[in-house]
Amino acid sequence: VDAAGARHFTLSAGTGSTEILAGKSTATWGFNGSMLGPTIRARRGDAIAFTIDNGLPEATTVHWHGMHVPARFDGGPHQTIEPGARWEPAWTVNQPGATLWYHPHPHGSTEKHVYRGLAGLFLVDDDVTDAVNLPKTYGVDDIPLIIQDKRFTPDGALDESDPTDIGLLGDTIVTNGIAGAHLPVRTERVRLRILNGSSGRMYNLGFSDDREFHLVASDGGLLAAPVPLTRVRLSPGERAEIVVAMDGSNALLRAHAFEDDAGLDRGDAASFGVRDSFGILELRPGANPDPSAALPATLATIARLDPESAATQRSFELQWFMINGAQMDMNRIDFSPGVDTTEVWTVRNIDDWPHNFHVHDVQFQIVDIDGSPPPAELAGWKDTVYTPPGVRFRLALRFTEYTDPTVPYMYHCHLLLHEDQGMMGQFLVL
Ligand code: C2O
Ligand code: CU
Ligand code: CU
Repeated sequence: VDAAGARHFTLSAGTGSTEILAGKSTATWGFNGSMLGPTIRARRGDAIAFTIDNGLPEATTVHWHGMHVPARFDGGPHQTIEPGARWEPAWTVNQPGATLWYHPHPHGSTEKHVYRGLAGLFLVDDDVTDAVNLPKTYGVDDIPLIIQDKRFTPDGALDESDPTDIGLLGDTIVTNGIAGAHLPVRTERVRLRILNGSSGRMYNLGFSDDREFHLVASDGGLLAAPVPLTRVRLSPGERAEIVVAMDGSNALLRAHAFEDDAGLDRGDAASFGVRDSFGILELRPGANPDPSAALPATLATIARLDPESAATQRSFELQWFMINGAQMDMNRIDFSPGVDTTEVWTVRNIDDWPHNFHVHDVQFQIVDIDGSPPPAELAGWKDTVYTPPGVRFRLALRFTEYTDPTVPYMYHCHLLLHEDQGMMGQFLVL
């Protein structure tokens, strides 16, 4: 707690080396260490303040993905921190408890900065997440998982050559900075807070024995009720919280091939990695596990935004490295929603490539997908959604509290190469 009464956090971006592959040293970038960053945790209602130092050899930014935050502290491409410089954003947390994350957002270099290791989780707690009877002992039965794919040169350096149409696709899955990760589990159930922190790879997650698990939260917080699933899909930037029961034997969390090629054209689906499969994390239960509570029947109340009351409709077509036929221009504002009004955005990928859609400052609700209500796993708060080719998504969103006549927020494809190539636009909340 600092002099002004805010909870104070310090982040320092720098270079280092990490043993990602056993016995090899890889040059990486990290916050407060050689790779990734500390999990930041704050409560709804907390005044928080950061001191962020850039010890990298180049300019960066730190963006709070999923966070409701004033535009000037959002950490997008306008809030550059030069090498050796310091940035001190501060705001009051005001949103439901959720698993958010932070990562650099320098225009044109986001993929490189994240790929080299700059990313961390940002957990928000509130009275609802406190009260809900889910596993919640951090590091014991409530486990953060940052999943990324990387490629290495023979001497163990990160290979940044030969990006595909969706950026750097790795052949090695790295979980919390470790290849071939495993986790001893001491409880009957474990909650995994999973972030797809990859550049472009999409994951179709499930266990190798196809056991059922429950999805309890999406990007912006708890779902209304646990959703039983055997697979959950995450495109870059999305999060899922799942609870899985142990049965005494090892359980391997895997990335499975997408049974439907993730809605991509069969001809070139393989080049987007959707037919790949990987082991991600082996859960190793011990004997005599500590009991876990049964899953609650309900989790949270999600007030539905009313699309009928929307003051403004907007539409977004995703194609090539563009949104609505335009590439990112740091000096162009695309539109300006009014504060405290509901909007409906129609988003359609008119390409044959995979894309997704992410909006800063807000959590949205999916109204419908090709005219049908979203499945339960997509019915909670979201800030990023996978948009397969040809499918029409309608999103309801409402910007609140913060206005700024000059500093914009971003919306973009979160496949980081696409973002870097200009598949991004800017809006002001007025
Ligand atoms: Cu996760 Cu605009 O970013
Ligand atoms: Cu973001
Ligand atoms: Cu894209």
